[in-house]
Amino acid sequence: MNEFSKLSQKHIDELNQDGVLILPNLISEDLVHEIKADSSIWNKKISFNNRLSSLIIGSNQWIEHVGLCSLKALQLSLDLSLIDFLKKYFKSDPVIGSIAIQKKIFAEKGIPLHSDLGDGLSIFIYLTEPEKEKGITEFVKKSHETEIHENFKINTKVEDASYIDIKKSPFSTQDIMQTHGGLGTVVIFHRSIWHQLPKFSSAGREILMIQYFKKGSLAKDHLIKKSFLKMLTNSQKEVLIENSAAESSPSLVELGSNPDALGVYKIPGWKMLYYFLKYKLFSKVKNSL
Ligand SMILES: [Fe+2]
Repeated sequence: MNEFSKLSQKHIDELNQDGVLILPNLISEDLVHEIKADSSIWNKKISFNNRLSSLIIGSNQWIEHVGLCSLKALQLSLDLSLIDFLKKYFKSDPVIGSIAIQKKIFAEKGIPLHSDLGDGLSIFIYLTEPEKEKGITEFVKKSHETEIHENFKINTKVEDASYIDIKKSPFSTQDIMQTHGGLGTVVIFHRSIWHQLPKFSSAGREILMIQYFKKGSLAKDHLIKKSFLKMLTNSQKEVLIENSAAESSPSLVELGSNPDALGVYKIPGWKMLYYFLKYKLFSKVKNSL
């Protein structure tokens, strides 16, 4: 498996210039199916605020402990050519800040234009066919370099990103770029690029989401199977574990606890129960192979 061996200096230049890099159908269908097979077992198990299964927040079902769920997903996130690419991009050794599988379990009215907090890169790998009806992230190319005046920003309850109203921003809808490619498409983007998730009409989108930062940055705690860990090379273990800061970003506090499912939310138990029951009663998504 060397899915990222095609990456070159040209891609680093493109990523620096545009803030986003799209690699259509990069990951083989076989590998995507193997990761899906791993995740589907976890998606069948839901318990609110228990990170040893999957968890549901609003329209999303999350597997946060990918290190317990899928060796293939772990190895893909730590692909040696990808690590090499990240080293060149960051001009530093990289570290994984977080790794999760996200599944959309309801149609959604979308996520408005926003810029994620913190330096670094995010990678989305499409585990299902990217389709308009199921929601595809859209980007304003080169906007990672744009200074946005505070007046444009929208105040939100959840401070997980900066949001703006596109109609009152320096951007227009014509600047919005859609991604292309099918199953296994990889989208790499600068976290501060402005991006949005337009409204979509059906559930089912599943992606592997990984955040990478420079060595010494905060990373989330997550659990890893010993047998998986043994399968990784030393340089992969460095990127997964050793390169992070001594302390970790808000993540695993205690199992079955309320605080900080995503490091930013404080979701009370009753709300997690509501999400769980809503999913059980109304979601049309099927968690089966
Ligand atoms: Fe985002």
